[in-house]
Amino acid sequence: MTVQTVVDRLRRATRVTILTGAGVSAASGVPTFRGADGLWRTYRAEELATPDAFAGDPALVWEWYAWRRGLIASCFPNAAHDVIARWSRTFTRCRVLTQNVDDLHLRAGTTGLVRLHGSIWELACWRGCGAPPWRDESHPFPMLPPRCPRCGGLARPAVVWFGESLSAADVAAAYDACACEVFLTVGTSAIVYPAAGLVHEATRHGAFTVEINLEPTPASSVVDAALQGPAEQILADMARRLHHETLL
Ligand code: OAD
Repeated sequence: MTVQTVVDRLRRATRVTILTGAGVSAASGVPTFRGADGLWRTYRAEELATPDAFAGDPALVWEWYAWRRGLIASCFPNAAHDVIARWSRTFTRCRVLTQNVDDLHLRAGTTGLVRLHGSIWELACWRGCGAPPWRDESHPFPMLPPRCPRCGGLARPAVVWFGESLSAADVAAAYDACACEVFLTVGTSAIVYPAAGLVHEATRHGAFTVEINLEPTPASSVVDAALQGPAEQILADMARRLHHETLL
């Protein structure tokens, strides 16, 4: 399958759903989780992004998040975010489902966004005192670990950790979005569920499914078109072709 085949499908589509992962933000300088650049000291995301890790050493986990927040704060959306943002506004019904917590889709102006794993810029009370999650864009933090403004207890990043459930509303919205004509899975290793299961759901609904990734993943053998290469280049190429044809 070629890029042009996908563009032809997109041209006829009104309902388009795009699932994204860390690879979409790689060109912005945000490290991926499983790539060679994804290492932080000797830890892996699975060892730090868990409630047990936080309970055992909140300062270490916060140090990791503070490091990532500082990095992300200096990054800007890239061409992949820009194309997705544009499509989110131009297709009649476009849903963007992201596993990324960096907010770069939002900063690019994406509408109809479901942030399956939350946002690194939001905090919540670790104790669960009843304070609603709050936005905190400070970096560096004046005090680490940060505290809950209501009860003074430990604050935690309002992201979904391994072993935790995603918001039921977000999961419902994601499944609902799988009833589409074209489903793109972009820059994700397709191994973390439930996000990794969405492409199967889209297939079940008869969607034309497309993967864009630097390398093969478990989704590659499932999709109708597996395009190998950088998302920021492939999506920009698709947008150019789509826009050109729309003008004719
Ligand atoms: P991963 O780090 O697992 O995978 C990133 C994927 O992006 C890999 O398959 C790369 O080949 C691909 N990639 C890298 N650069 C790319 C580029 N320029 N263009 C296209 N593809 C590129 O990240 P995710 O799949 O997002 O969860 O990981 C899923 C979840 O696991 C994350 O949300 C996070 C993580 O642990 C939690 O923290 C709960």
